[in-house]
Amino acid sequence: MTETDELAQNAPAADSDSALSTQADISGEIAGTSADYERAGRDETQPRLDYAPYRSSLLRHPTKDLHHADPETIELFAPVFGHRDVGAPESDLTIHHTGEPVGERIVVTGRVLDGDGRPVRHQLVEIWQANAAGRYIHKRDQHPAPIDPNFTGVGRTLTDGDGHYTFSTIKPGPYPWKNHYNAWRPAHIHFSLFGTEFTQRMITQMYFPGDPLFALDPIYQAIVDPKARERLVATYDHDVTQHEWATGYHWDIVLTGTHRTPMEEEEVQA
Ligand SMILES: [Fe+2]
Repeated sequence: MTETDELAQNAPAADSDSALSTQADISGEIAGTSADYERAGRDETQPRLDYAPYRSSLLRHPTKDLHHADPETIELFAPVFGHRDVGAPESDLTIHHTGEPVGERIVVTGRVLDGDGRPVRHQLVEIWQANAAGRYIHKRDQHPAPIDPNFTGVGRTLTDGDGHYTFSTIKPGPYPWKNHYNAWRPAHIHFSLFGTEFTQRMITQMYFPGDPLFALDPIYQAIVDPKARERLVATYDHDVTQHEWATGYHWDIVLTGTHRTPMEEEEVQA
Protein backbone atom coordinates (compact mmCIF):
# COMPACT_ATOMS: atom_id res chain seq x y z
CA MET A 1 0.00 0.00 0.00
CA THR A 2 1.39 3.41 -0.89
CA GLU A 3 1.46 6.34 1.43
CA THR A 4 -1.08 8.10 -0.72
CA ASP A 5 -3.48 5.18 -0.37
CA GLU A 6 -3.15 5.26 3.38
CA LEU A 7 -3.80 8.99 3.47
CA ALA A 8 -6.82 8.54 1.27
CA GLN A 9 -8.18 5.80 3.50
CA ASN A 10 -7.63 7.82 6.65
CA ALA A 11 -9.21 10.96 5.30
CA PRO A 12 -12.82 11.69 6.23
CA ALA A 13 -14.95 10.52 3.33
CA ALA A 14 -17.76 12.84 2.27
CA ASP A 15 -18.81 10.09 -0.13
CA SER A 16 -17.36 6.79 -1.23
CA ASP A 17 -15.57 8.32 -4.24
CA SER A 18 -13.37 10.52 -2.03
CA ALA A 19 -11.74 7.40 -0.56
CA LEU A 20 -10.61 6.15 -3.95
CA SER A 21 -7.10 6.42 -5.33
CA THR A 22 -6.47 9.00 -8.01
CA GLN A 23 -5.46 8.29 -11.58
CA ALA A 24 -2.04 9.76 -10.66
CA ASP A 25 -1.69 7.12 -7.90
CA ILE A 26 -2.62 4.33 -10.31
CA SER A 27 -0.41 5.64 -13.11
CA GLY A 28 2.50 5.93 -10.69
CA GLU A 29 2.10 2.31 -9.62
CA ILE A 30 1.81 1.17 -13.24
CA ALA A 31 5.04 3.03 -14.09
CA GLY A 32 6.84 1.53 -11.09
CA THR A 33 5.84 -2.03 -11.98
CA SER A 34 6.78 -1.44 -15.60
CA ALA A 35 10.25 -0.19 -14.61
CA ASP A 36 10.75 -3.23 -12.33
CA TYR A 37 9.74 -5.53 -15.19
CA GLU A 38 12.18 -3.90 -17.62
CA ARG A 39 15.00 -4.22 -15.07
CA ALA A 40 14.24 -7.89 -14.39
CA GLY A 41 14.66 -8.77 -18.08
CA ARG A 42 12.11 -11.59 -18.05
CA ASP A 43 9.53 -12.39 -20.70
CA GLU A 44 5.94 -12.52 -19.44
CA THR A 45 3.16 -13.19 -21.90
CA GLN A 46 0.15 -13.33 -19.58
CA PRO A 47 -1.61 -10.87 -17.25
CA ARG A 48 -0.46 -10.68 -13.65
CA LEU A 49 -3.16 -12.01 -11.36
CA ASP A 50 -1.92 -10.02 -8.37
CA TYR A 51 -1.47 -6.55 -9.80
CA ALA A 52 -1.78 -3.74 -7.26
CA PRO A 53 -3.09 -0.99 -9.59
CA TYR A 54 -6.01 -3.32 -10.44
CA ARG A 55 -7.39 -3.02 -6.92
CA SER A 56 -9.77 -5.98 -6.70
CA SER A 57 -7.04 -8.36 -7.92
CA LEU A 58 -5.34 -7.97 -4.52
CA LEU A 59 -8.14 -9.80 -2.72
CA ARG A 60 -9.37 -12.26 -5.30
CA HIS A 61 -6.27 -13.56 -7.05
CA PRO A 62 -5.50 -17.25 -6.44
CA THR A 63 -3.04 -17.86 -3.60
CA LYS A 64 -2.86 -21.64 -3.98
CA ASP A 65 -2.23 -23.92 -6.93
CA LEU A 66 -5.33 -24.46 -8.98
CA HIS A 67 -7.14 -27.73 -8.48
CA HIS A 68 -6.87 -29.70 -11.68
CA ALA A 69 -10.12 -31.39 -12.58
CA ASP A 70 -10.30 -34.54 -14.65
CA PRO A 71 -11.46 -33.34 -18.09
CA GLU A 72 -13.16 -36.64 -18.91
CA THR A 73 -15.28 -36.50 -15.75
CA ILE A 74 -16.38 -32.93 -16.45
CA GLU A 75 -17.34 -33.83 -20.00
CA LEU A 76 -19.89 -36.29 -18.56
CA PHE A 77 -22.05 -33.49 -17.12
CA ALA A 78 -20.93 -30.30 -18.90
CA PRO A 79 -23.27 -28.85 -21.52
CA VAL A 80 -22.45 -29.67 -25.10
CA PHE A 81 -23.07 -27.90 -28.36
CA GLY A 82 -22.93 -29.00 -31.92
CA HIS A 83 -22.28 -27.15 -35.15
CA ARG A 84 -25.99 -27.01 -35.83
CA ASP A 85 -26.57 -25.11 -32.57
CA VAL A 86 -24.76 -21.99 -33.77
CA GLY A 87 -26.72 -20.07 -36.40
CA ALA A 88 -25.14 -17.71 -38.92
CA PRO A 89 -27.17 -14.67 -37.71
CA GLU A 90 -25.56 -14.98 -34.28
CA SER A 91 -22.33 -13.49 -35.64
CA ASP A 92 -24.12 -10.25 -36.59
CA LEU A 93 -24.91 -8.30 -33.40
CA THR A 94 -26.72 -5.55 -35.33
CA ILE A 95 -29.74 -7.48 -36.61
CA HIS A 96 -31.54 -8.89 -33.59
CA HIS A 97 -34.01 -6.11 -32.88
CA THR A 98 -36.57 -4.14 -34.83
CA GLY A 99 -34.24 -1.22 -35.57
CA GLU A 100 -30.59 -0.45 -36.22
CA PRO A 101 -28.33 0.00 -33.19
CA VAL A 102 -26.74 3.42 -32.74
CA GLY A 103 -23.01 3.76 -33.33
CA GLU A 104 -20.19 2.98 -35.70
CA ARG A 105 -20.87 -0.30 -37.52
CA ILE A 106 -17.72 -2.44 -37.63
CA VAL A 107 -16.57 -5.84 -38.87
CA VAL A 108 -14.06 -7.73 -36.72
CA THR A 109 -12.37 -10.70 -38.33
CA GLY A 110 -9.30 -12.84 -37.85
CA ARG A 111 -8.06 -16.35 -37.33
CA VAL A 112 -7.68 -18.63 -34.34
CA LEU A 113 -4.25 -20.26 -34.57
CA ASP A 114 -2.14 -22.64 -32.53
CA GLY A 115 1.45 -21.84 -31.58
CA ASP A 116 2.75 -23.23 -34.88
CA GLY A 117 0.44 -21.05 -36.97
CA ARG A 118 -2.00 -23.85 -37.78
CA PRO A 119 -5.68 -22.92 -37.95
CA VAL A 120 -7.96 -24.02 -35.12
CA ARG A 121 -11.04 -25.22 -36.99
CA HIS A 122 -14.70 -25.21 -35.91
CA GLN A 123 -13.84 -23.37 -32.70
CA LEU A 124 -16.68 -21.76 -30.76
CA VAL A 125 -15.90 -18.04 -30.43
CA GLU A 126 -18.23 -15.94 -28.26
CA ILE A 127 -18.15 -12.17 -27.72
CA TRP A 128 -19.86 -9.71 -25.40
CA GLN A 129 -19.49 -5.96 -25.22
CA ALA A 130 -20.89 -2.58 -24.24
CA ASN A 131 -22.91 -0.51 -26.69
CA ALA A 132 -21.65 2.62 -28.47
CA ALA A 133 -22.30 4.67 -25.33
CA GLY A 134 -20.25 2.31 -23.16
CA ARG A 135 -23.24 0.68 -21.44
CA TYR A 136 -23.80 -3.04 -20.92
CA ILE A 137 -27.22 -4.61 -20.63
CA HIS A 138 -26.55 -5.91 -17.14
CA LYS A 139 -28.21 -4.95 -13.86
CA ARG A 140 -24.83 -4.21 -12.29
CA ASP A 141 -24.06 -1.63 -14.97
CA GLN A 142 -25.98 1.41 -13.74
CA HIS A 143 -23.78 4.25 -14.92
CA PRO A 144 -25.69 7.07 -16.60
CA ALA A 145 -25.20 6.20 -20.26
CA PRO A 146 -28.14 5.17 -22.46
CA ILE A 147 -29.15 1.58 -23.11
CA ASP A 148 -29.68 0.96 -26.82
CA PRO A 149 -32.96 -0.94 -27.31
CA ASN A 150 -31.56 -2.28 -30.58
CA PHE A 151 -28.35 -3.71 -29.20
CA THR A 152 -27.86 -6.58 -26.74
CA GLY A 153 -24.10 -6.94 -27.23
CA VAL A 154 -23.62 -10.71 -27.39
CA GLY A 155 -22.71 -12.94 -30.33
CA ARG A 156 -21.07 -16.20 -31.26
CA THR A 157 -19.75 -18.04 -34.25
CA LEU A 158 -17.64 -21.04 -35.22
CA THR A 159 -14.29 -20.71 -36.98
CA ASP A 160 -14.30 -22.08 -40.52
CA GLY A 161 -12.04 -24.77 -41.91
CA ASP A 162 -9.16 -22.29 -42.11
CA GLY A 163 -9.62 -20.92 -38.57
CA HIS A 164 -11.38 -17.69 -39.65
CA TYR A 165 -14.07 -15.97 -37.59
CA THR A 166 -16.02 -12.81 -38.46
CA PHE A 167 -18.41 -10.64 -36.42
CA SER A 168 -20.46 -7.63 -37.46
CA THR A 169 -21.15 -5.33 -34.56
CA ILE A 170 -21.04 -1.76 -33.23
CA LYS A 171 -17.85 -0.20 -31.93
CA PRO A 172 -18.19 -0.19 -28.13
CA GLY A 173 -17.61 2.99 -26.16
CA PRO A 174 -15.25 3.40 -23.18
CA TYR A 175 -16.95 3.23 -19.80
CA PRO A 176 -16.23 4.21 -16.17
CA TRP A 177 -15.56 1.63 -13.45
CA LYS A 178 -14.84 1.84 -9.76
CA ASN A 179 -11.19 0.79 -9.54
CA HIS A 180 -10.14 4.35 -8.68
CA TYR A 181 -11.50 7.87 -8.97
CA ASN A 182 -12.33 8.78 -12.60
CA ALA A 183 -11.31 5.31 -13.85
CA TRP A 184 -12.26 4.51 -17.46
CA ARG A 185 -11.80 1.31 -19.42
CA PRO A 186 -10.52 1.55 -22.99
CA ALA A 187 -13.10 0.38 -25.54
CA HIS A 188 -12.93 -3.42 -25.79
CA ILE A 189 -14.74 -6.56 -26.86
CA HIS A 190 -14.66 -9.61 -24.57
CA PHE A 191 -13.83 -12.89 -26.32
CA SER A 192 -14.32 -16.46 -25.09
CA LEU A 193 -12.91 -19.52 -26.85
CA PHE A 194 -14.01 -22.97 -25.84
CA GLY A 195 -11.28 -25.13 -27.29
CA THR A 196 -12.35 -28.66 -28.01
CA GLU A 197 -13.50 -29.35 -24.45
CA PHE A 198 -15.10 -27.18 -21.77
CA THR A 199 -12.04 -27.44 -19.56
CA GLN A 200 -10.08 -25.51 -22.20
CA ARG A 201 -12.17 -22.34 -22.14
CA MET A 202 -10.13 -19.14 -22.49
CA ILE A 203 -11.26 -15.55 -22.07
CA THR A 204 -9.60 -12.35 -23.21
CA GLN A 205 -10.33 -8.83 -24.46
CA MET A 206 -9.72 -7.18 -27.84
CA TYR A 207 -8.91 -3.47 -27.95
CA PHE A 208 -8.93 -0.84 -30.70
CA PRO A 209 -5.77 0.83 -32.03
CA GLY A 210 -4.67 4.21 -30.68
CA ASP A 211 -6.92 4.29 -27.61
CA PRO A 212 -5.78 7.15 -25.32
CA LEU A 213 -6.88 5.15 -22.25
CA PHE A 214 -4.33 2.33 -22.69
CA ALA A 215 -1.69 3.96 -20.50
CA LEU A 216 -4.20 4.63 -17.71
CA ASP A 217 -5.95 1.23 -17.55
CA PRO A 218 -4.71 -1.23 -14.90
CA ILE A 219 -6.42 -4.20 -16.58
CA TYR A 220 -4.61 -3.62 -19.88
CA GLN A 221 -1.40 -2.76 -18.01
CA ALA A 222 -1.60 -5.94 -15.88
CA ILE A 223 0.08 -7.49 -18.92
CA VAL A 224 3.38 -5.88 -18.06
CA ASP A 225 5.20 -6.84 -21.28
CA PRO A 226 4.48 -4.15 -23.92
CA LYS A 227 4.68 -6.56 -26.87
CA ALA A 228 2.36 -9.05 -25.17
CA ARG A 229 -0.32 -6.45 -24.43
CA GLU A 230 -0.08 -5.07 -27.99
CA ARG A 231 -1.24 -8.51 -29.13
CA LEU A 232 -4.65 -7.62 -27.68
CA VAL A 233 -4.99 -4.61 -30.00
CA ALA A 234 -6.75 -5.14 -33.32
CA THR A 235 -5.42 -3.63 -36.55
CA TYR A 236 -7.51 -1.35 -38.72
CA ASP A 237 -7.77 -3.18 -42.06
CA HIS A 238 -9.13 -1.33 -45.09
CA ASP A 239 -9.54 -4.63 -46.93
CA VAL A 240 -12.04 -5.64 -44.24
CA THR A 241 -13.82 -2.27 -44.40
CA GLN A 242 -16.97 -2.51 -46.50
CA HIS A 243 -17.97 0.23 -48.95
CA GLU A 244 -20.56 2.56 -47.45
CA TRP A 245 -21.32 0.04 -44.71
CA ALA A 246 -18.74 -0.69 -42.00
CA THR A 247 -15.14 -0.10 -40.97
CA GLY A 248 -13.00 -3.22 -40.55
CA TYR A 249 -10.61 -4.57 -37.95
CA HIS A 250 -8.37 -7.62 -38.01
CA TRP A 251 -7.41 -9.55 -34.89
CA ASP A 252 -5.78 -13.00 -34.72
CA ILE A 253 -5.89 -15.13 -31.57
CA VAL A 254 -2.90 -17.39 -30.88
CA LEU A 255 -3.60 -20.09 -28.30
CA THR A 256 -0.11 -21.32 -27.44
CA GLY A 257 3.61 -20.55 -27.82
CA THR A 258 5.71 -17.43 -27.36
CA HIS A 259 3.28 -15.26 -29.36
CA ARG A 260 0.29 -16.49 -27.38
CA THR A 261 -2.56 -14.03 -26.92
CA PRO A 262 -2.78 -12.94 -23.27
CA MET A 263 -5.77 -14.60 -21.55
CA GLU A 264 -7.59 -14.00 -18.29
CA GLU A 265 -7.59 -16.76 -15.68
CA GLU A 266 -11.20 -16.05 -14.88
CA GLU A 267 -13.91 -13.88 -16.26
CA VAL A 268 -13.33 -10.19 -15.62
CA GLN A 269 -16.58 -8.25 -15.54
CA ALA A 270 -15.10 -4.79 -15.98
FE1 LIG B 1 -15.92 -4.95 -20.38
